[in-house]
This record gives sequence, structure tokens and C-alpha cells, in this order.
Amino acid sequence: MTSTLENENRTAAPLVRLTRAGKHYGTIIALSDITLEVSAGEVTCVLGDNGAGKSTLIKIIAGLHQPSEGTYEVEGTPVAFGSPREALERGIATVYQDLAVCPLMPVWRNFFLGNEKRKGLRLDIPFMRKTCKDELLAMGIDLRDVEQPIGTLSGGERQCVAISRAVYFGAKVLILDEPTAALGVKQSGVVLKYIIQARERGLGVIFITHNPHHAYPVGDRFLLLNRGRSIGYYEKDQVTRDELTGLMAGGSELEELSHELEAAGGSAAAAAAELEEDAEELGTASHQPHTGNSPA
Ligand SMILES: Nc1ncnc2c1ncn2[C@@H]1O[C@H](COP(=O)(O)OP(=O)(O)OP(=O)(O)O)[C@@H](O)[C@H]1O
Ligand SMILES: [Mg+2]
Repeated sequence: MTSTLENENRTAAPLVRLTRAGKHYGTIIALSDITLEVSAGEVTCVLGDNGAGKSTLIKIIAGLHQPSEGTYEVEGTPVAFGSPREALERGIATVYQDLAVCPLMPVWRNFFLGNEKRKGLRLDIPFMRKTCKDELLAMGIDLRDVEQPIGTLSGGERQCVAISRAVYFGAKVLILDEPTAALGVKQSGVVLKYIIQARERGLGVIFITHNPHHAYPVGDRFLLLNRGRSIGYYEKDQVTRDELTGLMAGGSELEELSHELEAAGGSAAAAAAELEEDAEELGTASHQPHTGNSPA
């Protein structure tokens, strides 16, 4: 990226900014007081355990739900999306974990699904095949054959097809809902590589994950959620990977678990001792000052 571009990014409003956003479903408070932003060429990671509110947050940004409180701005303008289609029109694309693909259809058909290119009344198949192949190559994915059913690709490759598709159709912001959750180490690495590529192509990426080891290497900013609340929002230089891990694991919860195992006795007690050590280590790693709910 050139320095002029960097300067432009710095002065422009973020692509997406949520300020003190909250969401309740009836009496259930799924999210409260969440502030987050992402600019072009940045990756913002959202970390949290089950039920932390990650999907709720995505649904707000993707235009599926409106926040009950707070504001949502896109490129500096307040928005109130009525549907995901409206968010998409503003360049906000979401890649869901289950990826809604048609497994028996060729890769290129899935790539163009809902956006088919026509020549007159007929599908322009040669164009779609070639474009799909070229776009995948541009992201560094060299498929033997874009004619193969997408269901024959690995989970990681399918995520990558979805990412390059969003990029091709003009996404400015890419929301990825736990793209690495179901993947092994190697496949996860592949997906992380495409997250970096998307960032290098100037997209803003919001990367949802459970895994601080996946988040830390690619993230510029980290929002940690716990039971619908922010327990920290850091720029990369404000936090280490160990601190992130500690915050995610919640040292005190590990300790509680270790006590329960200890009480169970036998081999569980040995596991308990190990957990206790982990909890202690995490405790020392994460006792550093964590201030600020918002980055400078
Ligand atoms: N439509 C809904 N109606 C009522 N409660 C909901 C609804 N959607 C989510 N919730 C509640 O809001 C909280 C946050 O849920 P959410 O799905 O956002 O968590 P999550 O971080 O995505 O979890 P997971 O990692 O399991 O996907 C949960 O307590 C959930 O039960
Ligand atoms: Mg979820």
C-alpha cells in the first residue's frame, strides 16, 4: 500500500463504526454498550465464547437486525439498514459459517449465484468460468478445475471462494463469522492468509473467532465480548497474544473448573493441577493494566 493511500485512510471516517450499540430480544439483553470500528486495510477481530453476542453483533452490522441502542455509521453517515441487501449495497458483505452453497453445482456457478452474467437471454458461461478462475488465482487459490462441484472442495477452500466472491462483487467490508472454527491447523492457516490478502486489497475485515491464536497474527484491533458486554477493546500494540488468551479463557473460570475436577478426585485431580497452573500463568499474563473501552 502506498503512503498516500495510508494517509487517506487515516483521515477518512471508518468504513464501519458502532458506537455504544446494544441489542435486546424482549427482556434478554444480547449486547450492550459495544463500540467498534474498522477502516479500509484493517482487520478488527471480535473474540468471545459461546453466547457472548458475536452473532448478534454480526447481524447488526450485516443489516439483519437493527441495534436497540447506540449508533451505526458507514463511512461517517448514520445508517438504519432494513435488510442485508441494503447493507450489501453499501459494500458490507457477510460470509456465514454455513456458507449457503449449492454443493452439487460447479464452483463458478456458486461464485456467480444470484449475480449471473448474461449475454442476451443466455448465461455467459465462458465469461463466468474464466472470471471465477482468474479471481481465485488473484487470491492465490489455484483450483484444478472450476467446473468441479463446490461440495468437493475442502472447508477452507470453500471459505476462500466465498471471500474472493465478496471481493469481486465489490465488498468494502468483509464480515467473517468464525471461518476457522471447523477447520484444522493447516486449513485455518490458508483462511488466515486470505484474510490478510483481503486486507492488503484494501478491504476492512471483521473477523469473528473463538481463537486468540487465529486472531492475533492477523488482527489490528481486538474486541473481547463476554455475555454481551465488552471486556476490552485493544489496538494490537496495547495487548499481547498471551494477554488475549488470558482474557478469553477468563483465568477465574479455569480456576473454578480446576476446583470442580479436584473434588472429583482420581485422574481428574491431576488434570485439575494442570489447569490450575494454566490459570496461574494466564493470571500473571493478563494482570497488566487493561484500560479503555475504546482505542485512542
Ligand atoms: N433471536 C433471539 N431471541 C432471543 N435471544 C437471543 C436471540 N438471538 C440470540 N439470543 C441470545 O443472545 C445471547 C447472545 O447470542 P449470540 O448468538 O449472539 O452469541 P454468540 O457469541 O454468537 O454465540 P456462539 O459462539 O454460540 O455462536 C445469547 O444468550 C442468546 O441466547
Ligand atoms: Mg454465533
